[in-house]
Amino acid sequence: MTKTAAPAMRPANPNFSSGPCAKRPGWTLQNLENACLGRSHRSKPGKAKLAQAIDLTRSVLGVPDDYKIGIVAASDTGAMEMAMWSLLGERGVDMMAWESFGSGWVTDVAKQLKLDDVRKLEAGYGDLPDLGAVDFARDVVFTWNGTTSGVRVPNGDWIDADRTGLTICDATSAAFAMDLPWTKLDVTTFSWQKVMGGEAAHGIIILSPRAVARLESYTPAWPLPKIFRLTKGGKLIEGIFKGETINTPSMLCVEDYLDTLKWAESIGGLNSLIGRAEANLAVLADWASQTEWVDFLNTDVATRSCTSVCLKVVDPKVTALPDDVQAAIAKKIGSLLDSEGVAYDIGAYRDAPAGLRIWAGATIDVSDMQALTPWLDWAFAEACAELVPA
Ligand SMILES: Cc1ncc(COP(=O)(O)O)c(C=O)c1O
Repeated sequence: MTKTAAPAMRPANPNFSSGPCAKRPGWTLQNLENACLGRSHRSKPGKAKLAQAIDLTRSVLGVPDDYKIGIVAASDTGAMEMAMWSLLGERGVDMMAWESFGSGWVTDVAKQLKLDDVRKLEAGYGDLPDLGAVDFARDVVFTWNGTTSGVRVPNGDWIDADRTGLTICDATSAAFAMDLPWTKLDVTTFSWQKVMGGEAAHGIIILSPRAVARLESYTPAWPLPKIFRLTKGGKLIEGIFKGETINTPSMLCVEDYLDTLKWAESIGGLNSLIGRAEANLAVLADWASQTEWVDFLNTDVATRSCTSVCLKVVDPKVTALPDDVQAAIAKKIGSLLDSEGVAYDIGAYRDAPAGLRIWAGATIDVSDMQALTPWLDWAFAEACAELVPA
C-alpha cells in the first residue's frame, strides 16, 4: 500500500481529548491572576467568587430560580455519588446504561448500595435502551450523553412531566453543549473539566424542588460520609447552594471556571456554545459521509453526540482482519496523530470498541476540526500501509 503526503494545514490546537477537554480559545494562565489565593474560601472575597460561579452557572445554563446549584467535591463522580447515596432507596429505581460511565452507576447502585428493587435498562455501545420502557413512578438514573459511545438521548420528551419518581441525570458531557430541559431533570450533575474546558476536581449538582423535598423527607438506611451530606437535622444545608462548600475547594479552579463562564457569556451564551459543538459535529459528519473507511459508532443521527464523537473503521480490508489487528490500526491512527502534534488523546475509551473518540465540544474551534479531517485520512492510510497485510 502506498503512503500519502501529509496535509499542509494543522489544527492550531491539537487538544481533542474527551476530558479534561481543551481550554477555551484564548485561554492563558494570566486569566487567573485575580484568583482568591492564600485566603480562606470562607472569607468574604472567597465566598463571593464561589457565589459568582453558582450565579453564572445559573445564568449561562438557564437554570430555573427555584432550582439549587451546589459546588461539590470530586468532580462529576462526586456529584453523582452524592446524589445516588443521598436520594435512592426511597422507591425502586430504573438504571439506564449504554456505555461505561452509565454502567458504573448501575454497578454502584446494585453492588455497593445493594438496593433491592433495581431494574436495568441497558444497551450496547452505539445504541440506546428503549426510552419508552422507563417507569417514572420509580426513580431513574441516566446519562444524558454517553461519553464513551457518542450516544445521547435525543431530547427530554420521553421523560414524564408528571412523574412521581426522581430523574437523576449525569450530564457531564452534555451541560453547556446540549439543551437540558430543566423541568424534566430533578438532579443534574457535571464537572468543570468537560465542555467548558475547566479544571477537574470540582463538580456541580443541581437540584429541583422535588429533589429537595425528597432530601428533606427521606433518610437513607446507610451511613453517609460527610462529603455526601446535603442535609442536617432533616433540612437542606442551604449554605452549600450559596457557595459554602462542604470542604475546601481550589480557588484556582474556581477562578478558571469563572473565566470559562465569562467567555461563554462573551460569545453569546448557551446557544453559541451549543452552536459551536454542533458545527464541530457537522464537520465530522460531512467528512464521514464522504469517507469510506470511517463511520460513527452510533448510526442514528438523532442521538449522535455533538461532544464525544465516537468513530469506527469500516473499511472492508480492515474489518476482514482479526479484532486485535483492527484495534492496532485504530490505535496507530491515534498514535501517529499524537506524534505529529496534530491531535492528542483521540483513541477510543479503554472499555469501548476499538476506534477513535474526538472531542467536539464548545471549546474546540471549527477551523481546527476542519484541519483535522485530512489528517485522519492521512493517518488511516499510514496505519494501513504498516498493518494491513499486502
Ligand atoms: C458520562 C460521564 N460520567 C462521569 C464521568 C466522570 O467524570 P469525572 O472524572 O469528572 O468525575 C465522565 C468522565 O469522562 C463521563 O464522561
